[in-house]
Formats: sequence, C-alpha cells, structure tokens
Amino acid sequence: MSCIVSGKNLVKYYDDFKALKGISFGINEGECFGFLGHNGAGKSTTMRMIYGLSAVGEGELWVMGERISLLTPPAIKAQLGVVPQEDNLDDELTVIENLEVYGGYFGLKRKEAHRRGLELLEFMSLKDKEHEYVTALSGGLKRRLVIARALINRPRIIILDEPTTGLDPQARRLVWQKLRQLKNEGATLVLTTHYMEEAVQLCDRLVIMNEGLVLAEGSPDELVKKYVLPYVIEVHMPPVEIPETFFEKVQAFGAEIVNRAEGLFLYSASGRELWGKLDELGLPPHVCYLRPAHLEDVYLSLTGHGGTA
Ligand SMILES: Nc1ncnc2c1ncn2[C@@H]1O[C@H](COP(=O)(O)OP(=O)(O)OP(=O)(O)O)[C@@H](O)[C@H]1O
Ligand SMILES: [Mg+2]
Repeated sequence: MSCIVSGKNLVKYYDDFKALKGISFGINEGECFGFLGHNGAGKSTTMRMIYGLSAVGEGELWVMGERISLLTPPAIKAQLGVVPQEDNLDDELTVIENLEVYGGYFGLKRKEAHRRGLELLEFMSLKDKEHEYVTALSGGLKRRLVIARALINRPRIIILDEPTTGLDPQARRLVWQKLRQLKNEGATLVLTTHYMEEAVQLCDRLVIMNEGLVLAEGSPDELVKKYVLPYVIEVHMPPVEIPETFFEKVQAFGAEIVNRAEGLFLYSASGRELWGKLDELGLPPHVCYLRPAHLEDVYLSLTGHGGTA
C-alpha cells in the first residue's frame, strides 16, 4: 500500500538548532497513526510541516502523492483538518460563528458553513453551546470545538496535535470515541500524544520519537514484542531492603533488571515462573506486582524517560 503521508530523512533546523535529525515514517490511508514522544521530541514540528505552517528543510515529505518542496500547497491543505496544539479559536466570536468563519476559509458559503457547523456541534456534543462566546467555554469544550472546526471542510486527513492534553478522563474518552468514529468513516488520523493510553487506544501504528529522532515504528503490539520481554514484575520496596543476593539470582533466572525511580522492574519471558521464585529472591509478594509488558515499557526502555500515564 502506498502511503498517504510519508517522510524520509526529514531534517528541520530552527537557526542552529536541529529539531528534527532525519526522521522517516509512512502513514497508510484510513489508519490512525501516532507520534508519541516527550516534550521537545519534534512532534509539533513534524505536524506543522505536514499541514503547511512550517517549511520542509532537508529530506522528503510526501502528502497525498505529492512531494512537498517547501510548504504544503493550498489544494492539499484543503483536504486536511488541523487541530493545532494550542487552541486558536476566535474569542470574540460565538461557537457557531467560529465554525462559520473557518468554513469561509475553505470557500464555503455562510449558509453551508452554518449547516455543517450545526452538524459538527451535534457530532462533538456541543449543540447546547452554539451561541456561547468562546471565552465562556472550559478547556475541554474549547478542545472539542477545535476538533469540530477541523472537520468543517470534510478532510481526508485529520492532523491532531495533542488532542486531549489537559482534558479530564471523561472528556478524553469522549474525544477518543469521536476520533474512532471518524476513522470508521474512512478518515486518516495523524495524532501526536504523550499519553501512552491514548496511543494504545487509538493508534493502529505509531512512531516513538525522542529529541528529533524516530526510535521505533510499528503497532503497539509489535513494538512490545520487538523491544521488551513479555512480562514484568514491578518491585516497590526501599532499595536498602533488597537482599544482597537478589540481583545475581534474578539474572540467573534469565530476567532483566531495570532500576527506575518508581522501583525495580524485572522483565522476563516467563512471568509466572519468576513470580514463583519471589521467595527464593527474598521478595515479599505484597511489594511485587506481575503484569504483561505494555507500550510504556517500550517507551521507557527506548527513551529512558517516562510518558504520562
Ligand atoms: N519556532 C521555533 N523556534 C525555535 N525552536 C523551536 C521552535 N519550535 C520548536 N522549537 C524547538 O524544537 C524542538 C522540538 O519542538 P516541538 O514543538 O516540535 O516538540 P514537541 O514534540 O511538539 O514537544 P511538546 O510535547 O512540548 O509539544 C524543541 O526543542 C523546541 O524548543
Ligand atoms: Mg508539541
């Protein structure tokens, strides 16, 4: 399958600072593709390049079959829906007026923009806010309005830069549900996040970014299989209480030990077997917790720092 968006060795400088150090990725039509990474990883830089707010530096960027030589051209932008990281709504307009004015940028007549606007308010569960001014909306409602606004031109690709940052868990789940619905209707979703759960819940495939580099690409399951052992025992006890022979014994059982601020993480191919050895290792079970490895383990092991749970 040829990619609807792809990057090859993309490099971006801000003056002397190299924000992207040669990243490559390929996004298939109809999938939800994620860019997962810590602050400053280069996620927004990549998104801005795709939606045409930032010029392509070195390397290749392809969007809908066209190589972008500098800035994404208007004919392609017309098929993109953009949710920027910062809400940039017009505070002086009401909710519906924000949608109408934005529709105008895509050449929609006021009446058509109004009709689509009402549909989108319904879709994002904002119908009762139609005549409110943006200043009166909570952060979560503003985010939903920015998402509604991004859909006014019925985009083929929807780019969402941290769509749910700062939202409470309930609001986040509502956004997830709407995004899934958009994907089911055929849209391609490109999103950035630093929430592991968001990446797992939404993304068919993703890249893990760190300091301007792509460290890995794949589905959440593939990444777990490829980069970490399948079981983890987390040990939460003060380091001074850990028996001296512990490290040697764990290694003899074929497990890998990773020491993190939250505790010791023992990665193993056979979790239950290792769990059965807790006594021999001198660990009381009540400070230990066995679980399958997940995306956060991959993220921690590749980047060396944690995401947001
Ligand atoms: N306009 C700019 N001028 C100078 N440096 C910039 C500019 N925009 C981004 N940077 C720098 O480039 C790096 C990547 O920034 P970017 O905003 O792409 O990261 P991010 O992954 O989106 O981070 P966050 O999770 O904080 O949104 C950072 O070190 C940032 O300080
Ligand atoms: Mg960002």
